[in-house]
Amino acid sequence: MADLDDIKEGKDFGLDNPARNEPFFLKGSNALDWGMQNRLARIFNPESGRTVMLAFDHGYFQGPTTGIERMDLAIPPLIPHADVLMCTRGALRSCISPTANKPIVLRSSAGQSILSELSNELVAVDIEDAIRLNAAAITAQVYIGAEYEHKSIANVVKLIDTGSRYGIPTLAVTGVGADMVRDARYFGLATRIAAEIGAHYVKSYFIEEGFEKVVAGCPVPIVIAGGKKLPEGEALDMAYRAVDQGASGVDMGRNIFQSDCPVAMIQAVGAVVHRNVGTDKALQMYHDLKSDMGM
Ligand code: R5P
Repeated sequence: MADLDDIKEGKDFGLDNPARNEPFFLKGSNALDWGMQNRLARIFNPESGRTVMLAFDHGYFQGPTTGIERMDLAIPPLIPHADVLMCTRGALRSCISPTANKPIVLRSSAGQSILSELSNELVAVDIEDAIRLNAAAITAQVYIGAEYEHKSIANVVKLIDTGSRYGIPTLAVTGVGADMVRDARYFGLATRIAAEIGAHYVKSYFIEEGFEKVVAGCPVPIVIAGGKKLPEGEALDMAYRAVDQGASGVDMGRNIFQSDCPVAMIQAVGAVVHRNVGTDKALQMYHDLKSDMGM
């Protein structure tokens, strides 16, 4: 029991200082509950307002993708340089040490493969398991304009509703069907729909024309996927232009783990995202780190 003797009356109420009442640093996230904001503040660096998410969830529909055939070998060296790990629960439990202590964005959908219709997904993780895994966010695809558009939107709505009960944010990933045109109109539509149904942040692809407008029209943060492997300089340039035009970071997979030197590449991406390091300097940094590693 607390000692009740000698209780001193409070003296220093800091009467000259107004109560702290700071807005939350992330776009569109000011009205969220404390737990939700706390998880988002683990995903996005409060100093830069941005994130480097390392995505290695590709196997959930495409099997042992090049670069992550052995996730237990490929991913651990990258973990210290990532802000967030995005993966499936199977990858997490089998290949990632719980001592990694990085926020997890949990791939929570499945149900299709590269041999079938990609938009035909379902919610494939129960919220209780996401909580058991201490997920910082849960995620599924919205396939706007695809055969199973309605079902994919319903999946994300379900994640948003169940995650909200426990203060877990949802990342909506804009999945693009093979016959969709990847332009500002499409991503403007897809990201806006994702935000309006309640996604706490949205993953899009970078586009050459009009990306700034896509970001402006989406009331919550956008992170970009890396997409197919590019030469390192081009991937760094894409990341630079994306954050310069308002993206809140990257959710990058193949352009990191398929790089000639993934450990150098993720650090160069981090310099671009968090410190606005320009493309040329970031590429030089990549080459220097790579050569320091004897590669
Ligand atoms: C889709 O398969 C996944 O959500 C990936 O995590 C996403 O596409 C990011 O990976 P990448 O940078 O390789 O496109």
